[in-house]
Amino acid sequence: MARHTVADMRAAHAAGGHFAAATAWDRPTAEFAEAAGIQFLLVGDSLAQVALGHESTVRVGMSEMLHHTAAVVRSTSSALVIGDMPFLSYVDVPTAAENAARFIRDAGAGAVKLEGGVSVAPIVAALVRSGVPVIGHIGFTPQSSLNESKPRAKGRLPEAAAALLEDAIALQEAGASAIVIELVPQELATAITSRLKIPTIGIGAGAGCTAQIQVLPDLLGLLGATPPRHAGRIANLRDEAIAALTTWRENVESGAFPTAAQGIAGDATLIAALDELPR
Ligand code: KIV
Repeated sequence: MARHTVADMRAAHAAGGHFAAATAWDRPTAEFAEAAGIQFLLVGDSLAQVALGHESTVRVGMSEMLHHTAAVVRSTSSALVIGDMPFLSYVDVPTAAENAARFIRDAGAGAVKLEGGVSVAPIVAALVRSGVPVIGHIGFTPQSSLNESKPRAKGRLPEAAAALLEDAIALQEAGASAIVIELVPQELATAITSRLKIPTIGIGAGAGCTAQIQVLPDLLGLLGATPPRHAGRIANLRDEAIAALTTWRENVESGAFPTAAQGIAGDATLIAALDELPR
């Protein structure tokens, strides 16, 4: 089956439609999302926190990102898999080109995402010229937020809002296929979206974006940490998993698991021979 591409995102935007995207990092997360009809999967560098237990996205590098991107590609058949270029992996055009090639050529991704606006536009343009579909990311950009103790909304003041629009236009002119807009006032995200020909993918940026993306554990309630308010958690799978595993542990401890039906029955010859085994 042919995979979705960035052209499908652009077609949805052109038709005035919305689409859902989500993060994934391994076979279960990729299978859940694809089976739910989510056809745009980002192997985000939030991998660092949600799967690998780090405190910041800057703790993952190319090897971890490629490992997990390849796992998501192997575990899906039709989704567009987007590799998130990690901290310092696109500091200049040669570095960006080599690392983007590793996502596309070695891991099988269909596009890459990178953070920044005007400042990364020349890098985006070079990648796009080389045939790499690129998705931008503006607003709150975790890789450049090491001085902030927690995620903070961007673009609240008129000058900052104008700068974000400038970033978005620079990315579009550089050939980006779509732009993630994270944690900005919804009115601003709507205004940016209405001024672009390419889709916007909002996270904490309101309903005026073309698409919405969320970090899967925030949506599904997979982890202990409280998800951000904008995630709108729709399940509590952590509690369900803990309850199920508690039941299983209790069944093991009480002898209720395994039952005879869950074992392999020996035949009469084996059972007779067992009596002959030395004691
Ligand atoms: O790494 C990530 O999960 C992301 C999303 C927040 C868009 O970049």
